[in-house]
Amino acid sequence: MKYALLGAAGQLGRDLQSRLQGEVVAWTREQADLTRPVELRAALEALRPDRVVNCAAYNFVDKAESDPTAAFAVNAWGVRDLALICRDLGCVLVHFSSDYVFGLDENHRVPWTESNAPGPVSVYGLSKLAGEYLVRSTCPRHFVVRTCGLYGVWGSGGKGGNFVETMLRLARQGKPLRVVADQTCTPTYTVDLAAATASLTMTDRYGLYHVTNSDSCSWYEFAQAIFEKAGVKADLAPISSWEFGAAARRPAYSVLSTAAYHALGLPPLRPWRDALTAYLDERGRKNPI
Ligand SMILES: NC(=O)c1ccc[n+]([C@@H]2O[C@H](COP(=O)([O-])OP(=O)(O)OC[C@H]3O[C@@H](n4cnc5c(N)ncnc54)[C@H](OP(=O)(O)O)[C@@H]3O)[C@@H](O)[C@H]2O)c1
Repeated sequence: MKYALLGAAGQLGRDLQSRLQGEVVAWTREQADLTRPVELRAALEALRPDRVVNCAAYNFVDKAESDPTAAFAVNAWGVRDLALICRDLGCVLVHFSSDYVFGLDENHRVPWTESNAPGPVSVYGLSKLAGEYLVRSTCPRHFVVRTCGLYGVWGSGGKGGNFVETMLRLARQGKPLRVVADQTCTPTYTVDLAAATASLTMTDRYGLYHVTNSDSCSWYEFAQAIFEKAGVKADLAPISSWEFGAAARRPAYSVLSTAAYHALGLPPLRPWRDALTAYLDERGRKNPI
């Protein structure tokens, strides 16, 4: 099995590389840019992979509000070009999407399933939803994996870290931390998502899947758990999304039901609290203090 992996320098891309079974050719943005379809097609035609795994994305949720063109160039039109190439080469396309495709139905308070109608509340969410539809309508053999609140030891390159590291850094600087308590989701460890994706994509059960760690929490509760588990004292208090005032709206509730993934006989991902413990262990081994 030969894989081409795009977005190889990102946090999920890095964790996924070593978990795919077979030959993995991993490309960073410099080596394979979604906004350069001619070069991308030439590279994939030369490589002839069995599967293309796309971990590349425009992930600046707030910036996308004022620069929708940039978000759509990567998350929609770049993904469409990739899907066309994969269709023409007859290869499987594995693509990642986001819980931010939901949020418009503010009364929804049970885990979203793949058959619930999406409704994004941000430009980023809309660009990811467009990308999903373009993959699903263009490349017949696809896996579209929606996930949520990713963190991994490599950090999100573009964003310069991840939520856990940001919390620990600010707490160590003694800064007061005000974290939103009215957005509920499931933070997901990239190591767990990478292992689950590797198993899922070994099947031929193509389609749309939700894959996250289990259980759910608010970002405030997640921050509380980070400090508790890391043994760090922090000046932490809850705040509302309105008070926080981010440029982009986020869903109030974006917990994803992973029942369709489990129905394939694949094991559930561990609870987010256990995944956080594993993450803190992994970062401790990599950066012993
Ligand atoms: N992070 C989250 O919380 C989250 C939540 C739900 C879903 N997701 C989805 O999960 C997937 C993986 O996310 P992640 O957190 O691993 O992202 P990440 O760490 O930000 O990595 C994304 C990678 O994509 C690259 N990239 C950006 N534009 C590109 C382009 N035009 N062509 C090729 N590569 C490009 C970036 O390169 P540069 O660093 O050079 O820009 C970066 O290496 C994405 O589809 C994302 O939308 C993420």
